[in-house]
Order: sequence, then structure tokens, then C-alpha cells
Amino acid sequence: MNYAARMARLGTETAFEVLARAQALEATGKSVVHLEIGEPDFDTPENIRRAAIEAMQGGWTHYGPSAGLKDVREAIASYIEKTRGIYAEPDQVVVTPGGKPILFFTMMALLDEGDEAIYPNPGFPIYESVIQFLGAKAVPIRLHEDRNWAFDIDEFASLITPKTKLVVLNSPQNPTGGTLDHAALKAIAELAQKHSFTILSDEIYSRILYEGTHESIAAFPGLRERTVILDGFSKTYAMTGWRLGYGVMDKGLAAHVARLMTNCNSCTNSFVQKAGKEALTGPQTSVDDMVAEFQRRRNRLVSGLNALPGVTCTMPTGAFYAFPNITGTGISSADLAKALLEEAGVAVLSGTAFGKYGEGYLRLSYANSIANLEQALERMGGYLDAKLKLKSR
Ligand SMILES: Cc1ncc(COP(=O)(O)O)c(C=O)c1O
Repeated sequence: MNYAARMARLGTETAFEVLARAQALEATGKSVVHLEIGEPDFDTPENIRRAAIEAMQGGWTHYGPSAGLKDVREAIASYIEKTRGIYAEPDQVVVTPGGKPILFFTMMALLDEGDEAIYPNPGFPIYESVIQFLGAKAVPIRLHEDRNWAFDIDEFASLITPKTKLVVLNSPQNPTGGTLDHAALKAIAELAQKHSFTILSDEIYSRILYEGTHESIAAFPGLRERTVILDGFSKTYAMTGWRLGYGVMDKGLAAHVARLMTNCNSCTNSFVQKAGKEALTGPQTSVDDMVAEFQRRRNRLVSGLNALPGVTCTMPTGAFYAFPNITGTGISSADLAKALLEEAGVAVLSGTAFGKYGEGYLRLSYANSIANLEQALERMGGYLDAKLKLKSR
């Protein structure tokens, strides 16, 4: 078959490939600790599951408006007002099957061939993939470990050209667990005003934060109109398999994104949207409990990683990933990730799965039990001890 040329430019998310490889190894009887995939291991809270069942039985099993059910968009608009401190109208909200389509559709609606889009690197691989797929120029902004995984503002400013149409921000961040502080957001906001670019602010981990409170760039003066907030239910409410997310944006752009929904999905599952409304408006204690548990796991994992030979790890402030520096092992990220899976039975991702500046790092998801994290650390320690001893002989 003769594939369209654009398919050669479409990337992927390695986590799903590593998961498949790990599962193939398990099928041969090998034990694998899964730290590769970014999804909470908790069940979706009971009140949300109940709301979905009630909605299904109540007849919410039909097509709905492409942009999302009106009451659900109203609930999202009030949630955004409450959590981001900005006024949002339901017409600014588009509900999608997961947060990912917001990323895809926003880029489709904004980027022409030849436009430039700046995105964090190491970062969620889908940003670079979709920018390139659309024939736009993907311009990486390097995140620095010694800046708590923020980027250098002067370096960022130097990447802006008259062709810069879109800047992607992600805070709290995948894969580093870093966050952008107020000063960084303010500086980026000023540059956005000066150079008139749009910001796609991926805030999918906004509730999984261990220090301070989440701040959206959309709340800075003049930025509400030029920011697309991406958020969703996958991470906050342990709803990855439900496929429910949303974007909050300028009304004109929302109409375009809704038209893309009409062309692609028609609408998002109606009873899942109703469950999402319950998630936002119902009790939030399960979110607090999950975050407290993630924090316990983070502390255990990071201290364990820092005790491994050749490994150092900064303390992540959000999301549920650790991004240890493994340069002290003398092994490349891809080789170490492969060896840990095949020889030690620990599935992790190479930092390079998140872009070229991820070399020298691994990504470990700590959305897993303390017992499994301890087993992973023990296996990694055993592998590295043996490997590094062999090397020093
Ligand atoms: C940074 C980031 N953005 C967006 C998503 C998409 O999440 P979903 O489509 O499940 O809502 C993910 C999922 O891993 C992510 O890590």
C-alpha cells in the first residue's frame, strides 16, 4: 500500500510499545514491574462509576452536541473559574474523548505548513509528533535539570521568530515532574503578548501537585484570549480508560475544534460526560487521598533511586513521574531501559522517548504500589551493582 507522506512524520508514544514488550515477556513467564505507563493504579472513585451507570440507565446513550453536553460544559466552565481564577463561558469549552484530541485539534486548527511551534523537550512526545505531522516546524525548548526542570527564559526568547504561532507549556510536567513557577509564567506571558503567539497550556496534572498551588498562564493579563487550557479526567480521577478530557479556549477557536470533533468523533460518549460532571461537582476526597499516596510513593522512590550506583534524582513537585539522571552509570538511556526490562524485569522508559534532551535520564512512573516500587528498586540495584562492578574490573 502507498501511504501518505505525512505518515512518515507522525511519531508515537513509546510507553505503549514498552508496555506491549513487557506484556510479551510476562507471557513467557517472566516477572515484570511496570513503571512505564502513566496511569493511576487506583480505581475510578465509586461516585463517578455510579453516575455513569445511572446516566446509562437514564438513557444518556445517544449522540450529543459535538462540543459536549451543555450542563457538562457549564460544570467545566465553573470548575475552571474556581481552579484557575478566570471567567470562562460554556461556549469556550469543548469536551473530547481524552485530553489528547484537544492537543491534536488545536494544532490542526492553528498550524499551517511552515509555521513554528515551540514545545518542551524532554516533553510529552505527542507535541513534537503532531507538530511535525502537520508540516509545521517543531522547535524544542530545552528543560534543565539544574533549574528544577524549567527552561531558561532567555533561551526561550531566542527561539521566537515571526513564524512562531504556538507555544506548548506543560506544568506539572511529564516526564520530569517539574513545574513552572510564577516568575517563569509571567515572563512567558509577557513574551506571548509581545509576539502574539497562542499558548497551549497542558494542565492535565494540575491537581497532582505536592507543593504550592497550581497557577495557569491563562490567568495573566491578556492571556485568557490567547491560551488554550488542556485538562481532563484521566489522571486526576483515575479515568484513563474512560476517555474524557476538555479544552477551554477562545470561542472562535472552540467552534473550529468542535467542527473537527464533528468530522472525527461526532461527539464524546454521553454517559461518560455525565460521569465527568459528577467527578467535578461531587466529593473530592478521593483526589486528595490519591495525591497523598502518590507523595508517599514519590518520597520512597526518589530516595531509593538516589541510593543506586550511578544514579541521582531530583525531587519532582508534581505529576507521578521520577526522571533520574543515569549518566553516572556510563550506559545510554535506551540501552539501560532495554536492559532493565529484559535482564532485571523492570519496565521503565528511556529519557529519549521524550525527545533528544532526554538522553542521560530514565522515566519511572510511580503510579504503582510501594511494594512494587521497592521490588523495582531492588532489581535495578542488583542489575547496576553487577554491571558497574564488571565495568570497574
Ligand atoms: C502531558 C500529557 N498531556 C496529555 C495527556 C493525555 O491524556 P488523556 O488523553 O488520557 O486525557 C497525557 C497522558 O499521558 C500527558 O502525560
